Amino acid sequence: MVTGSPTIPKPFLRWAGSKRKQIPRLREFWSTDYDRYVEPFAGSACFFFSLRPEKALLADKNADLIETYELVRDKPGRVYDRVIAIPRTKERYYLERARDPARLTPIQRAVRFIYLNRNCFNGIYRTNLSGQFNVPFATSKAGAFVTRDEFIEAGKSLQRATLRPWDFGTTLRYVREGDFVYLDPPYFVESRRVFREYGERAFCSHDLCRLSEHLEKMHNRNAAFLVSYADCREARSLAENWFSCRMRVRRHVAGFTGDRKAAYELLITNIELSE
Ligand SMILES: C[S@@+](CC[C@H](N)C(=O)[O-])C[C@H]1O[C@@H](n2cnc3c(N)ncnc32)[C@H](O)[C@@H]1O
Repeated sequence: MVTGSPTIPKPFLRWAGSKRKQIPRLREFWSTDYDRYVEPFAGSACFFFSLRPEKALLADKNADLIETYELVRDKPGRVYDRVIAIPRTKERYYLERARDPARLTPIQRAVRFIYLNRNCFNGIYRTNLSGQFNVPFATSKAGAFVTRDEFIEAGKSLQRATLRPWDFGTTLRYVREGDFVYLDPPYFVESRRVFREYGERAFCSHDLCRLSEHLEKMHNRNAAFLVSYADCREARSLAENWFSCRMRVRRHVAGFTGDRKAAYELLITNIELSE
């Protein structure tokens, strides 16, 4: 069951590779008959926030992101008021960025995470080799933040989700019959340069093999899955045994807003859509 609401909740984070614009197409695969929504590469979780499922498992290997979701779930009003109170200036941004997260309380870390996400270049999450966030300030306007009400609503949606800082392999071991699993991994493409910086180790060909094995296992457990992936040789081989369709998207190449290009993505699924 999806609870009724007049507005579709917006994700409160900006995220490189966000699927926000593709939500209407993705929704065609969803049904409220599924027992649970599972998203192992959550990022901004925009599909989750738009569906507002009754039960969910949200995971991402980015532990700072998952901790932030926990704080938004538990103390949305306090987190929001603190984020909004920080001036959106270049000077303040670099002061916040320089703070050592290990010396902050969980709520301070969540506030810093959201503030940096709101104001950094292109909503990119990237750390240096010592794990420090190193994305520059967004020189052009990063856009308006969600309203306090929208943020509180996001917190309510998160109350219905189990949150885990896990590698996708761990998350997928918990998939069971009746689950709907939406997978939006970073792209591993050998032949082209696409954005794939989400932390210390990039998604690699070994991860794609693992993913392929998990698709088979999920199918055998009677779980439904839907994968979004760049339309490339690697994705077509991932799609071999499943239904797939191409979708036109606009993607930014080389990380620069002015360099956005039309591209294609593949949706790979074991869900048979009736015409
Ligand atoms: C393309 S983004 C997901 C974007 C999301 N669908 C959205 O709309 O915002 C991919 C996510 O996968 C996460 N990730 C990368 N490698 C991972 C792994 N091995 N296990 C779990 N999550 C991983 C990254 O931290 C990133 O948040």
